[in-house]
Formats: sequence, structure tokens, C-alpha cells
Amino acid sequence: MTSATATKPALLEGEKLVQEAAPRWPIAGEQERQWMDEVVTSGAWSWLGVHERAFCRDYAKFIGSRYCLCLANGTVTLQCALQAVGVEPGHEVIVPGLTWVATAQAALDIGANVVLVDIDPETLCIDPQAIRRAITPKTKAIIPVHLYGCMCDMDAIMQIAREHDLKVVEDVAHQHGSRWRDRGAGAIGDAGSYSFQQSKVLTCGEGGAVTCNDESVHDIVHALKHVGFAPDRSQTWAPDDRPPLVPGNRYGHNYRFTEMQAVLLRGGLSRLEEQTRIREDRVQYLAEKLRAIGGPLRAAKRDPRVTRQAYYCMTLHFDPSQAGGLHRDQYRQAANAEGCALGTPYPPVYRHHLLNLYDRTSPVPYRAPGTVQNYAELRLPNTERAVLETGVVIPHQHLLGNRAYLDQWVAAIARVNEHLDALRDHFAAQEGQDKA
Ligand SMILES: Cc1ncc(COP(=O)(O)O)c(C=O)c1O
Repeated sequence: MTSATATKPALLEGEKLVQEAAPRWPIAGEQERQWMDEVVTSGAWSWLGVHERAFCRDYAKFIGSRYCLCLANGTVTLQCALQAVGVEPGHEVIVPGLTWVATAQAALDIGANVVLVDIDPETLCIDPQAIRRAITPKTKAIIPVHLYGCMCDMDAIMQIAREHDLKVVEDVAHQHGSRWRDRGAGAIGDAGSYSFQQSKVLTCGEGGAVTCNDESVHDIVHALKHVGFAPDRSQTWAPDDRPPLVPGNRYGHNYRFTEMQAVLLRGGLSRLEEQTRIREDRVQYLAEKLRAIGGPLRAAKRDPRVTRQAYYCMTLHFDPSQAGGLHRDQYRQAANAEGCALGTPYPPVYRHHLLNLYDRTSPVPYRAPGTVQNYAELRLPNTERAVLETGVVIPHQHLLGNRAYLDQWVAAIARVNEHLDALRDHFAAQEGQDKA
């Protein structure tokens, strides 16, 4: 590196500061390869095989719930969990305005009306006060989504649920293994729903799971995922055996799981606690360094009631008043040029094209006129500000990097902060050229 390029930001023709390769994701170990070979030759590829049963047993224990069932993905898990806790067509389900669109789709697809509410600006998770304001006589359930790197306020949400006799289905697609006052995310409400899609911290490419404590919730999810068949409770079976089945009086489908998926999850689960510990350590390190260097970027505060934080992403906040006139996305562009993969939150759910089709293929809007929000007109200020101006996320694989890698990130962010004026001039000149 020459002295000129050593100081210039990469966006202004300097050399990028992050030279270490980003950690790989997803990953698999030797044990999975060996099991996978055995599964391939065994001829037992699907339908509650030995690996799926072992994973369900271990994952239920890890989360701290009585039951775990594996399903095809983290959208049908939400659908089945909602149905199992009693959500029926015409009921209202309260969902945060900031989440992946599947959270809303799952409720819409079973005929419920989705009422979107605003988020807490610090955690980017559903705001309990907004839940309270949205409750009507038709409300049946709440879906708190533990989003990116912060948990929902489960004390407040469970209190509201108790007061209004509502069901709680936690969407834990982002936070396998987070703990609130030492209780596992997904074991606090009536059911937990997890995605094992490739980007997640526990993954088998595609897949999902439901956890619950109630036997009847378990049996309904079982019937919904297995063409209507539920465990036959008039018989007994060993804990690690497949249950004998009877028709479960439910209109179920095939949302079953394969042994190949289960093998990958068993390997992933064996590494998860150590990876979470490393990510927690890296997030604390980055938060401290960002505080020390100052500037527009800071880590979201950690609620002391969160006793273990799993990270789909680290959640950060960008303060435009500290950015010398740079917009968040210009700042990100400068950081990304240095090799720091800063991302943004999802678009507001109500802006997603799937919820704005307004044609015959769409379940929205106006299934029950007068009670359903018009998503085209909906505005949720905290959601929109986080999405458009202030929210920043760092995907979890970067949080597995070693200290040298993180120090390069910190140096890169410090360098962007030192050159805010020059970067602002660069973007202004670019805009001038675009207009000319
Ligand atoms: C918060 C959230 N909920 C649900 C889902 C749906 O999971 P899947 O893609 O496995 O259907 C996702 C997937 O990204 C998600 O991020």
C-alpha cells in the first residue's frame, strides 16, 4: 500500500482495508459427511427417520420445550403453529411491520387477517404498546419476531397475551438459541417457529421446526404436516420411536422432512452454542470499538433480560445527524467498498409486492371489509425510519471472523468516518453529473 492509498477511502480510489476473507457460510463437518453417506446407502431417506427423531429430541432440549417437529420450511411452520393454537379464518393476527414477508403470508394463507403494527426503534422488534392498541374482539394471536440481533420484550408481550387471552407464536427464524431470562426463544409463547433456510444460523438448506409444550399443539402440527395423521394416544411407544398413527381430524398436507436435512442439522446443532458464544463476543467487541471511534454508527443496546443472544445479524443504528450530510446508503456504499458488508433491514412488510397485488391471486386486502388495514396506505413511522434511514445490519457469518478480521472492519469504518466531508463531496459531484 502506498502512503496515498493508505489513507484514502476505497471509494475514492484508496485500497480497501478489509483484506481478510469473510468466513464461509453455510458450513458442514466430517460427521455430517459420514452420516450422509450412511443415509444414502440406508434407503431410509424420509418420514421421521432416526436422524430426524434424534434432532427433534436434541433441539427440544436445547430450546427448553417439550416437543419439536421438523417441517419443510419456516413458513409452513408458522401456518401450522397458528392453526394448532386455534387461529381460524376471520381471526386477526398481530404481526410487526418489519419482518420477512413470510411471517405475514403464513397467517394470510390460513385465512386470518394480518394487522401490522410498528416496531420499537431500538430493537427493531414489535412494540408491545403498538400491540395493545391493535387488539380488537377478533384478535386471536400475536407473532413476535425476534429480529436480527435483538429479542422482543417477552415480559410485556406475555402480559398482554394473558390479559386479553391471546395466543403467542414466536417467530424464531433469526435466533435459534436466544434466551430471555434464561428461557429459550420459542419456548416462552404457545409455540415457536424456526427456519433452517441456508442463510440461517442453523441450516440444512431449506427446512423448519415447531417447538411447543402442549401435547395437543404437537399433535395438530403433526397431523397438518403428515397428511392428517396424528400420534395415536391410545397406544404407548418408546420415546425415541416413531409413534403409531391415527387420522387426526385435520386437513393436513405433506410438509415432511428428509434424513439428509436432519443430518445437516445435527452437525449444525453440535456447533451452534460455540458459534453463538463467538458471535456474542464479536458483537460486544465491535460495539465497544464503535463507541470508542465515535461517528454515526452504533450497536443496538442489549436488553439485560436477554441472557443469550443469537444473531442472524448484528443490529446497528445510523445517526444521520453525525454523518456530515451522508445518507445511510452512501455511508454503506463507502463501507462496502472497504470490504465491510453493511446491509439494511427488510422493506416494510406492507410495501412487499406480494401484499400489494390487488388481484384475484392475492389473499389481501379486504377479506373482512372495515377490519383489515389497507396496506397501500399504511404508514408505520418507526418501521419506515429504520428501513429507509437508520437501520443497519451485519450478517452473522462476519461475526465468526477472528479479531484480525474485525480489526480490519473497525479500521475501515474509522476511515469512512474520517472522510465524511470528502465522501459527501464525491456523492454531490456524482449527483451533479447524473443530473447534467
Ligand atoms: C423472520 C422470518 N420468518 C419466517 C421466515 C420464513 O422461513 P422460510 O424461508 O424457511 O420459509 C424467514 C425466512 O427468511 C424469516 O426471516
